[in-house]
Formats: sequence, C-alpha cells, structure tokens
Amino acid sequence: MRKKIVAGNWKMNKNAAEAEELMIQLLEYKKQHNTLCEVWIAPPSLYLMMAKDLFKNNEIGVFSQDMSAQDSGAYTGEISADMLKSIDADGSLIGHSERRQYHQENDKSCAVKIKKALGKGLTPVYCNGETLDQRKGGQHLDVVKTQTETALFDLSAEEIKKVVIAYEPVWAIGTGETASPEQAQEIHAHIRKIIAEKYGEEVADEISILYGGSVKPDNAKEIFSQPDIDGGLIGGAALKVEDFSKIIEGFNA
Ligand code: 13P
Repeated sequence: MRKKIVAGNWKMNKNAAEAEELMIQLLEYKKQHNTLCEVWIAPPSLYLMMAKDLFKNNEIGVFSQDMSAQDSGAYTGEISADMLKSIDADGSLIGHSERRQYHQENDKSCAVKIKKALGKGLTPVYCNGETLDQRKGGQHLDVVKTQTETALFDLSAEEIKKVVIAYEPVWAIGTGETASPEQAQEIHAHIRKIIAEKYGEEVADEISILYGGSVKPDNAKEIFSQPDIDGGLIGGAALKVEDFSKIIEGFNA
C-alpha cells in the first residue's frame, strides 16, 4: 500500500515566533489524533532545525522547499542535500512551480536534484503541472508526460519508488480555482501509467502522487477519494492549524 500524505508548503510565510507556534499546534494535534495519513511540513529553511527539535519522535515529516543541485562550495544562498541530511530532515520539495517561475528551475535541474536527494537518503517531492495556457491548448497530458520523463526517467526502479510526485496545475495554485477531482484523477492516472510503461505496474503502484492547488477543508475529502490521488500538497490552507487539520481529516471522513 502506498503512503497517504498531507504535506504543508509554507512558502515564504511566518516569522520565527509564528512558525514555532504553528509547529507546536500541529504537534499537539498530531499527538491527539490518530491520523490516517502521514503529515509533513515544508517550512522556510530557516526553521527546519526548529521543526526537527520540536518533532523529536518524527511525528511530522520535515522537508525543505528546495535544495541545491551542487554538493557544496561557493553557491551563496543555497542549502545542500548533505546539510539537510545532517539535521535529519526527511527530504525536499523539488521543482515547485514558483521555483520554475522565479528561479529558472527546469526538469533537467530537477533531475539532478532528485538524484542528489536520493543519494543522501532524502525523499524528493517532485512537483510538476501545466500552466493555464497549456491546459487551454489541450497540451496538459503531453506537458506532464515530458516533465515526468525528463526529471525521473534516469532513475532506477529502486530509486523512483522512493520519489513522491506532487501534481500541481499552475492555474490552481493560490487562485482558489481547484482542478475538479476528475481533472486531477485524470492526470494522476496518466502519470502512473507513464511510470508503469517504463518501470512496470508494481513500481508505479508504490509511488504516492499528491495533488496541490487550492486544496481547502471543503474539497479535500472529495479530491483524496480519487483512486490515484494519495494526498495533497497544501499552500495557503497549511498556514492555520484549523484548516490544515480539517484537510488531514479528509482521509478520516
Ligand atoms: P495553494 O494551496 O495555496 O493553492 O498552494 C498550493 C501549492 O503551491 C503547494 O505547494
């Protein structure tokens, strides 16, 4: 059975006191509830050690929002896979559309980062998804296919099994417009089929594919009920424990 996951991407939000408060609230929630999915957060990297200190028993997974494609050296502002491993972080988001839009991330650089993360025993959460123009032009299936193949198909079967994929249609991120459960399911099944064609059904069946893009307490349950949707990568609604916990309960309902 593949993992069910609800992950919160905090993006560039919260000062240190606010971050600590939310982490403590999430930890309390996690201790008091028997969640039917894993709960992960990707706070700003400044707060990763704070998260690791608070979540002493690994109650909540701790992920960075990005990591470098380089091992070490003169790369101002970057953090490496090795650094993440050294604080016992669980992994990193890779290829989020905001990194693609503002920081020249592309599928080839993602491929390098994914390999590096896996090499250090970190879980890469590979984000992909089409833009509004690509969706309107009917290219979404092809775009996601290319993204998946370019970033992941140099991996061995053993490696790709350890990757988590987050399908996040760019037009649904932060817009309040969610892909319908059917639209999301179509792409998730498509991604799984592309992987199955290269690596076999058994491998494809083990890979968790999360949906991201305006997941809220009132639509989480329906989205998570789709057969190929294994959870969500949540932006805005991950910033308040009331909302995030209701989304987590999308799996209990
Ligand atoms: P929103 O949930 O705010 O649309 O953001 C989704 C996202 O980008 C998560 O990585």
